[in-house]
Amino acid sequence: MKPHLQTVVAAPVTDALGRPLRDLRISVMETCNYRCPYCMPEGSLDEAALGARQRLDFADIAQIAKAFVAQGVRKIRLTGGEPLLRRNLPELIALLTQIDGLEDLALTTNGSLLAAQAASLRQAGLDRITVSVDALEDALFRRMSGGRGSLSQVLEGISAAERAGFSPIKINCVVQRGVNESQILPLFEFFRNRGHILRFIEYMDVGSCNGWRSADVVPAAEILARLQSAYELTPLAPTAAGEVAARYGVAGGGEVGFITSVSSPFCGDCNRARLSVDGKLFTCLFAGAGFDLKPHLRSPEKLASEIVALWRHRTDRYSEIRHAADVRKKIEMYFIGG
Ligand code: GTP
Ligand code: 5AD
Ligand code: SF4
Ligand code: SF4
Repeated sequence: MKPHLQTVVAAPVTDALGRPLRDLRISVMETCNYRCPYCMPEGSLDEAALGARQRLDFADIAQIAKAFVAQGVRKIRLTGGEPLLRRNLPELIALLTQIDGLEDLALTTNGSLLAAQAASLRQAGLDRITVSVDALEDALFRRMSGGRGSLSQVLEGISAAERAGFSPIKINCVVQRGVNESQILPLFEFFRNRGHILRFIEYMDVGSCNGWRSADVVPAAEILARLQSAYELTPLAPTAAGEVAARYGVAGGGEVGFITSVSSPFCGDCNRARLSVDGKLFTCLFAGAGFDLKPHLRSPEKLASEIVALWRHRTDRYSEIRHAADVRKKIEMYFIGG
């Protein structure tokens, strides 16, 4: 994490369940060059609706980010869709690094365009990077990206990120029953040997187009048991309140994480707000609608009071009430990032 010259010690605004606002995830691109079947299956994208959406420009994003930091946000993560499709992204990063009180600026990417961009992202001031890798076999990787991705391109991207100084790099892997369970150990060994932190993510029922079935979820406990058959793993304490991954240290070196949103939800300390590419605030990954912040861009006071009011009213805890939830329409994950 980057030390800042001046740290703003504002008490964060808390929601209706007492959860502070600490983490802002900003989607900078509403679409993606992959079509992972668990996220954006081929044919699911409503191109016309996307085209009609107006993207915030970088100055507006920075203004909104600053307003969130003033209310307690300390971490910002840039997401998509695929954020590296957004032109001139380093310019946004440079703007965000100027916000007093922001302690951590990260980005989640599919890695396909990372080889060419890693150095400029780092130079602009990006602190951390997370890359998605679901398989280490070419054909399976390609299938899991909807026939579009190239494993070697992504691995080159990760190497470029290493050379640019990102360390450690986090790797996200969504595990689906009968699809990529065979990759659990190979991925673990490959990334451990390179000093990166792999996190296994339970396949979630985000959005409405991936045909999610509970039978397709591989619970984290099962993944952990597989790893424990070959390695000694010890639970690690969370590094921060609200951390999504349950972390384990590996005897002999290394770390692995599990994101257990289905088998063991972590809504109790969820401190994350999400900003969509067109300026709407979503208070949950499973929300059906967002709150438009654009009308308040010209008035910093109104923007601040809207953010405070929206967060204070927040009661979302979808993953904890999944089975009882009466949700008719959920936002697609590619639209507000992971
Ligand atoms: P760190 O800043 O390194 O702790 O990052 P992170 O763990 O927040 O990383 P990342 O954005 O890569 O999150 C990993 C994955 O966890 C996401 O892609 C989502 O699949 C899932 N996830 C993150 N936040 C939430 C959340 O609030 N709710 C649910 N249900 N899943 C989440
Ligand atoms: N379940 C779990 N994780 C998902 N992601 C996308 N869709 C899903 C889903 N249905 C993950 C991606 C990426 C991150 C942005 O979100 O694999 O790592
Ligand atoms: Fe794109 Fe990431 Fe969704 Fe795959 S999971 S379609 S790479 S946004
Ligand atoms: Fe937060 Fe909603 Fe995820 Fe629960 S389901 S952890 S409230 S984003």
